[in-house]
Amino acid sequence: MSRHPDLRVPDLSALHARRSEKWTGHDPDVLVSTIAEMDFPVARPVKDALRAAIDRDDLGYAPDGIPELAAAFAGFAERRMGWRVDPEQVALIPDVMVGVAALAIALAGDAGAVAFASPAYPPFFAEPPRAGLRARPVPLAPGGEFDLDALRAELGTGTRVLLLANPHNPTGRVLPRSELEALAELCAEHDAWVLADEIHAPLVLTGAAHTPWLEVSDAARERGVSLISASKAFNLAGLKAALLVTASDRAREVVAALPPLGDHAGLLGIVGAEAAFAHGDPWLDAVLARLDANRTLLGERLAADLPEVVWSPPSGTYLAWLDCRALGLGDDPADAFLRRGRIALGQGPRYGDPGRGFVRLNFGTSPELVTEAVRRMASAV
Ligand SMILES: Cc1ncc(COP(=O)(O)O)c(C=O)c1O
Repeated sequence: MSRHPDLRVPDLSALHARRSEKWTGHDPDVLVSTIAEMDFPVARPVKDALRAAIDRDDLGYAPDGIPELAAAFAGFAERRMGWRVDPEQVALIPDVMVGVAALAIALAGDAGAVAFASPAYPPFFAEPPRAGLRARPVPLAPGGEFDLDALRAELGTGTRVLLLANPHNPTGRVLPRSELEALAELCAEHDAWVLADEIHAPLVLTGAAHTPWLEVSDAARERGVSLISASKAFNLAGLKAALLVTASDRAREVVAALPPLGDHAGLLGIVGAEAAFAHGDPWLDAVLARLDANRTLLGERLAADLPEVVWSPPSGTYLAWLDCRALGLGDDPADAFLRRGRIALGQGPRYGDPGRGFVRLNFGTSPELVTEAVRRMASAV
């Protein structure tokens, strides 16, 4: 491992040659800032592990047990988040949303409903109905924090599952411990389960700390399951391996009774995640430093080129949730930015009603492309 991980982002034409969803489906001149994937080269230890698997022609089904991956994750969680994970309570799933759907079906009870804060990652709206459940968005308070009164009212209707994205997508907000404690207490009062979507947890920026849900309180451990993976922090979303983590007998039993979801995970996902969690710290540290600098740069560029845009710099993730309502571009400003500025951004209304007039920008890229993104946005106004 070189002491300085290579984070050079290739030029736009090389990015467009990638085969992932993010880089297909747009004209070659479009700067794509949509899907939550970073543009940096994959971490060297992860590439090495994946190449070694290919070189030993090791592309078969995923194994039944994942002791090495569970141990690597437990080490990562303790080093980076102060989270004591019991490797025996770590289970493999193909991806976080598959785990969310299976757990929601198992836990929603008679109400058949899943609550979550809105704006939200669009599949939070789509997956519950696909699973025969109702999606119950609860608007965040104006400051971006959870509206506990609104959630209390929702739980009062019988909803028994809270899907909690922390750090939050699209706002990039890392929830403070006090807010998590209040959520745990409220959910315990209503016998509600919390599906803690912590997929962005390794991506916490300078000035913030992630409190893992299963470290919040006994109540959180009792009726809580964490869903996490290497996919966002290490850019491995297409490899299909994620984890369910529990810390109580009750939650462990819920997970044990699920269908065998791990059968659908990918072996390369296991190999890649294990390398990332065991050997990826130097790369991740370099990425976090770059994201921190990009966050500052984005603020400077917005202040200079688009001062009407309102935002709260995120404390985690590489996502910026930009309030463009003062620009007069309507409910879906991403449309004008794409047509006139040749930049594709996350379309605010797809994240729910509170997203009208917003766009989501992905700053997990080079400083040059962050600057270019704002330049293109400004050119559309
Ligand atoms: C909050 C959140 N949850 C889940 C996912 C999707 O995870 P997976 O691909 O593991 O289903 C994403 C992807 O961007 C996300 O931002």
